[in-house]
Amino acid sequence: MPVQLTDLRADHLVAPLALRRTTPRLSWRVEGDGVDPTPRAHRLTIRDRAGIGPVHDSGWIEGSSPAAEPAGFRGEPGHEYDWEVAVRTADGRVATAASRFGIGLTDWDAPWAEPEQERVREDGPLLLTPEAFAGGGDATPPGERLHPPRHLRQRFDLPASPVSARLRITSQGVHHPTLNGRPVSDEVLAPGYESYQHEISVMTHDVTDLLTAGTNVLGVVLGDGWFAGRISILGRSAQYGDVLRATWRLEADLPDGSRVVVRPDESVRSGRGPIDWSDIFIGERHDARAAIDGWDRPDGDEDAVASWTPCALVPVEVPLVPFVGEPIRRVRELPVQQILTTPSGDTVLDFGQVIAGRVRLRVRGERGTVIRLEHAEVVDAHGDFLDNILGVNKDQADEYVLSGDADGEEWEPLFTFHGFRYVRLTGYPGVPDPADFTAVVIANDLEQTASFSSSNRRLDRLVENTIWSQRANFLAVPTDCPQRERAGWTGDLQIFAPTAATLMGVAAFLDRWLANVRTDQRAHDGVVPIIVPMPPAMDDPERPNAGLMDIRAAAGWGDAITIAPWALYRHYGDPRFLRDNLDAMAAWVAHQTADAAAVLPAHLAEADLSPERLARQRLLWNGRMNFGDWLAPSTLVREGSSELDEFNAMMVAPALTAELTGPLFQIRSLDLYAAAAEALGENDRAAEARAHAAEVRAAFAAEYVEEDGRIGPDLQGIAVLALAFDAVPDRLRPRVVDRLVSLVHAAGDHLDTGFVSVPFLLDVLWDNGHADLARTLLLQDSAPSWLYEVDHGATTIWESWHAVHEDGTVDRVSMNHYAFGCVVDWIVRRQAGIAAVEPGYAVTALQPDLDGPLDHCRAHVDTVRGRIEIDWRREEDSAEIAVRLPIGVEGRLSLADGWTADGPAVLSAGHHRLRATRTSPLPADESTAS
Ligand code: BGC
Repeated sequence: MPVQLTDLRADHLVAPLALRRTTPRLSWRVEGDGVDPTPRAHRLTIRDRAGIGPVHDSGWIEGSSPAAEPAGFRGEPGHEYDWEVAVRTADGRVATAASRFGIGLTDWDAPWAEPEQERVREDGPLLLTPEAFAGGGDATPPGERLHPPRHLRQRFDLPASPVSARLRITSQGVHHPTLNGRPVSDEVLAPGYESYQHEISVMTHDVTDLLTAGTNVLGVVLGDGWFAGRISILGRSAQYGDVLRATWRLEADLPDGSRVVVRPDESVRSGRGPIDWSDIFIGERHDARAAIDGWDRPDGDEDAVASWTPCALVPVEVPLVPFVGEPIRRVRELPVQQILTTPSGDTVLDFGQVIAGRVRLRVRGERGTVIRLEHAEVVDAHGDFLDNILGVNKDQADEYVLSGDADGEEWEPLFTFHGFRYVRLTGYPGVPDPADFTAVVIANDLEQTASFSSSNRRLDRLVENTIWSQRANFLAVPTDCPQRERAGWTGDLQIFAPTAATLMGVAAFLDRWLANVRTDQRAHDGVVPIIVPMPPAMDDPERPNAGLMDIRAAAGWGDAITIAPWALYRHYGDPRFLRDNLDAMAAWVAHQTADAAAVLPAHLAEADLSPERLARQRLLWNGRMNFGDWLAPSTLVREGSSELDEFNAMMVAPALTAELTGPLFQIRSLDLYAAAAEALGENDRAAEARAHAAEVRAAFAAEYVEEDGRIGPDLQGIAVLALAFDAVPDRLRPRVVDRLVSLVHAAGDHLDTGFVSVPFLLDVLWDNGHADLARTLLLQDSAPSWLYEVDHGATTIWESWHAVHEDGTVDRVSMNHYAFGCVVDWIVRRQAGIAAVEPGYAVTALQPDLDGPLDHCRAHVDTVRGRIEIDWRREEDSAEIAVRLPIGVEGRLSLADGWTADGPAVLSAGHHRLRATRTSPLPADESTAS
């Protein structure tokens, strides 16, 4: 095969129309064989599409990197560029390939179009009390509280059909734009969710083919969305504003070289259409009788919109920035698996898979018939529909009113989505046919970048369930769950970040979110909020307990600013993840340091501490309440099972462990900040952070690590974190490991780790001589365990390990929280055996677990250099290992002690087949031997 360059990207995206950075990172993959296809040099040329001749020519640059930032090139806002890369290989061949990118606008010269409307009513609680968490709230029907989405319409003329046209559009609220009656794209719920008070993203569409010479009509439907609708844990509305607006800039380049720009002006008119109300949480009601045919077409019925009123034109005051990344789209469709008639007599559609999305239905029936769809993730122990989502305004119910079309009608909600597998259907005319219902999965349209299949079907399902939970929660922002809160909990994301990057192309998605994290952090004096975007109703210091227990800066949540960029840098090898976030990391560790000095744990505040102890305590970030090792299983065991108990039980882990998780994550963040600084060549910053980390470690050990290896409340999670973050003196390490192993055995070989420690549990056991115990925990199938969920029907990852009890009783918790799916990163690294050693997988460890529970395993990870594949099969004392490596990746075969391979230990690009043999007997099981 000749040398080829493939997968050209700008800022991790294929041919993006509008980037935010003016100097994008351009990347490519080299494929091919021949004598030596190793890249030795590259050359980049960039041409402005509107100009002649290159605006950038890098000349030949020596090196093998698969990406570069074109030095000295700065793209002009609103311009589009063609770029070409040439690569010269070691054997002297040259390959070229081309792609394009555009730079978005930074100055916005169009006003908001503000339709006539009633202000969105403020409802939902301001405080998170146990009662609010358990549900209830305003019983007023949605129809009396919510307003119809606005429809905006602008007619304009073009003297000729454009050769090229772009629509840049955004809104306060969510928007759905059409041109001449056709959607401008397949995006949904644009522009997504972000801290709208600081900046709002503009979507850019290629609309060349939708415009014609003569009259054209731009239509925009505007809904409450995250801006004005009910959101987050409180379920409160109007948090960013109570008035909906849209702004746009349509640029049509005509054959004669002139450009027509259409912005909102006095000609924009608005009215209501068939949607009675629409809310992300509550749901949507569509009355097909009120449809206005052609409202957004030039040939439509002008009389039908004659009563529409002009929009006010309002200056845009918030910065508008280009949206960069994959938009939210319909990414999958699922058929009905079965239609149930439950013991209570309900008709329930079962789609067989817990998802985030909505139902598209076809129906034929009498005009005015009302169909209602209620969504839930579970059925109860008896097989009855069970709404598992508690809280205020979390209805998840849609209604459709039939127009009575004799040919039948089809409907899918526009501005809502639900977390569900089951749908209770009422009012449906006739006998529902499964073929008439489709579950439409919506998510940011990220590509899947890894696969895993093995001899253990349950493990395969666990990986699939994790992918489904990622898909459901990488929706607008990385969320905890797609039903109850749909909030950008920073902790959940940091826990899952390495797995997220392995499973899907998250570079642009998380880059965008991290920019929002930094913006919110700046607005909070260096504190990274527990949720980003931070919903204003939870963000009022005058109103305590708006969030959970008045926690504002939380260990393991705020540390997302060090942990997530580091995980992304490791996966993608893109130093900008560190460069962009280094100052934010510094601000976060500075907050931890200052807060540590300022606040002592309450039980020590009045104590008479020796000067040494006081000095140590002032180094430790241990004085504030945080979420601790959230949801650690043993802390949730309680009497009774009412929802209020649930709420109080959740607070036990924080009470027991917050004093420890604080300094442990302080150490983690200092280490990662130091590592990031070092990777960027900022050696002074790195040295300073390392020195500080050493002091905090010493103080932690002196204050909390006992001679017998116990730490603080003596829970698995704290031991795991202390070992993982190297907060235990070498001398005591074996004792802490022994203590952890005893705790695991005492729990009947079950994990008892909460949110923040679970990502490290199996590695800590593995790296400290207890690989077998790690494998036992992985395959444990009574609760709490990963496979218990799989065995009890999970199709996603649950928030609680025993959300479905042995007897079938179902807890009313989220069935779609990706956090505990973080084990997939470990499974890919330690079972399949693909692990990055150097950032971007330039050096990759190939370490199949030949002593483990799997007989065979096949997996791949798509890296920035191309696909790494492993496929191994073990029989008795020998194994066949097939590996495929892309150009630019060095594989290092690393087999467990006692195994030898018949090939080299260092593998280069290409396909390799190796035979491994066990030459010494399987070592004794250290964990059971102890
Ligand atoms: C969310 C979590 C989140 C937590 C804070 C919960 O209600 O669902 O996933 O991180 O609160 O501890």
